[in-house]
Amino acid sequence: MLQRKTIISACLTLVAVLLSTAVPAASDNPSSQPSAQASAGQQPADKTSADAAKLRIGSGDPVAGKTKADLCFGCHGEDGNSMDPQSPKLAGQYGAYIAKQVRNYQATSRTHQIMSPMASTVSDADLADISAYFASQPMMKGDAPSGNQLGKKLFENDDLSRMMVRCNSCHGTSGKGQNPGNPLYPVIGGQHKAYLYGQLLNFKNGVRNNSNGGVMNITVHRLSDAEIDALADYISGL
Ligand code: HEC
Ligand code: HEC
Repeated sequence: MLQRKTIISACLTLVAVLLSTAVPAASDNPSSQPSAQASAGQQPADKTSADAAKLRIGSGDPVAGKTKADLCFGCHGEDGNSMDPQSPKLAGQYGAYIAKQVRNYQATSRTHQIMSPMASTVSDADLADISAYFASQPMMKGDAPSGNQLGKKLFENDDLSRMMVRCNSCHGTSGKGQNPGNPLYPVIGGQHKAYLYGQLLNFKNGVRNNSNGGVMNITVHRLSDAEIDALADYISGL
């Protein structure tokens, strides 16, 4: 038993290492911010908050982005905090993560009946600015802590018997990501519960397959729907 656990743990460590080296995923990131991302991983601690904000925003111009994002406000909110719980909040999300998702919708590696046609209207030149605008907004936040103990337990603890690595090891202690220069792991803390629940089910059922190395599919595929509901409840309150 001990040996099996050791092997599983070693495999998961390998996945994590592979993921961390895959950060600037070339196919997803044709032209953007190589220097910012490359330097970020090594020295986040001594960055000033202005530098940190720049890293989070990426290569685009948030001021130009505000005008270009007009088309998105109806669903995602002018400050990136959507009213409709099925439309994700984008406020304070990593710029490079936002851009990756739009490119994934364009390339059909992520699909949605509303967002896919929306994404196809966005040009490459506008995408960096629009992403920078939403990334520059005050970060999304839950209305109140949920107090869901099952969700908290799953969020903070590995369950190696089910290949589940604790969520906070990638998404950060309170689900706000790791550091401003690492856009691989999106901000999920404070996101709408209904959106989180839907995405986790999509990863579980293989409807969404665009996480690097399929890491999210592997992580949630043995969770019950009730556990996924508990996680979504807990994370939305962070
Ligand atoms: C008519 C409503 C609507 C409009 C307009 C719209 N979106 Fe969306 N957007 C959605 C919905 C709904 C989703 C969730 C789709 C899913 O489940 O895959 C979404 C998802 C996204 C995501 C994925 C977020 C994440 O956390 O993974 C991004 C990024 C995004 N939209 C960006 C944009 C941008 C940029 C625009 C403007 C060009 C835009 N959207 C316009 C409804 C909309
Ligand atoms: C080994 C790292 C890792 C672990 C552990 C992990 N995630 Fe993720 N997660 C990711 C990555 C990478 C993405 C981005 C996928 C993409 O690029 O589309 C992601 C995306 C997500 C999203 C989609 C966010 C959005 O805005 O659409 C949700 C929700 C999520 N994770 C929840 C969880 C939960 C809940 C757990 C624990 C059960 C968890 N994650 C554990 C790496 C991880």
